[in-house]
Amino acid sequence: MKIVHTIAELRSLLQPVAYRAFVPTMGNLHQGHLDLAQIARQRVDAQSASGAVVASIFVNRLQFAPHEDFDSYPRTFERDCELLQAQGCDIVFAPTEQDLYPEPQVFKVHPPAELADILEGAFRPGFFVGVSTVVHKLFNCVQPQLAVFGKKDYQQLMVIRRMVQQMALPMEIVGGETRRAESGLALSSRNGYLSAAEINEAVHLSRTLRELAQTIKQGNASGTLDVAAAEAHAMHSLTQRGWQPDYLTVRKQHDLSPIHGACHEPLVVLGAARLGKTRLIDNLELT
Ligand code: PAF
Repeated sequence: MKIVHTIAELRSLLQPVAYRAFVPTMGNLHQGHLDLAQIARQRVDAQSASGAVVASIFVNRLQFAPHEDFDSYPRTFERDCELLQAQGCDIVFAPTEQDLYPEPQVFKVHPPAELADILEGAFRPGFFVGVSTVVHKLFNCVQPQLAVFGKKDYQQLMVIRRMVQQMALPMEIVGGETRRAESGLALSSRNGYLSAAEINEAVHLSRTLRELAQTIKQGNASGTLDVAAAEAHAMHSLTQRGWQPDYLTVRKQHDLSPIHGACHEPLVVLGAARLGKTRLIDNLELT
């Protein structure tokens, strides 16, 4: 596995590689990221052309608000590289800020408000501008045929899919399933901020989403669905346990727009809530 830090080194290494499968990350990797690398590996191995799995590790300042955890975001570069190597990754692109943003990034990608100013975007203004801008730039560096993103960041995956479609970027976007601990807790780099007691409590975000999904399914089946009441109940249950929920809601999968009553399109429940100082997100597609 080769580790490169500059765009020039990356381009020269990739020059003979016909098929590139890309996994962008901010490091501090867990099994969820490694699952994405495995999807990339399988797709490269299925190609007859020369191929490479490329992972990036870059903590992107542009997607952090000033009060957020950019400085304290865990940086575990050596361990990340060992894990990626064991997963069959071929190239790690780990630019410094100076390499990727040698001057202030004044050209930015602005996703549409109806997709990027709702849910996460409503609570983290500018987040999806930062994400879209860095992902677009990383795509230009790697020029992948395929890129893999986790469904754990459901809205992010949707924003990237729309960007690729609208900008006619010649690549396929694959969504990897959320990896969970046995308890049901979705793996996340930010779980590392939780105390032992909080880890036990954290499972209630996915439980509450499961209950909300169940209520929606039952209401849909019986024709008695009261979306606002179901969402309010979910918010209330987490609040009572000491959480500060930002949202727990059911949306249409295809554009994350709200539903107001019975709806037989594919749905997803999404939630974000603060437990102590840590903000966690999770989601479940309704089957
Ligand atoms: O999901 C992440 O880790 C980041 O948002 C990404 C896609 C690597 C962009 O910085």
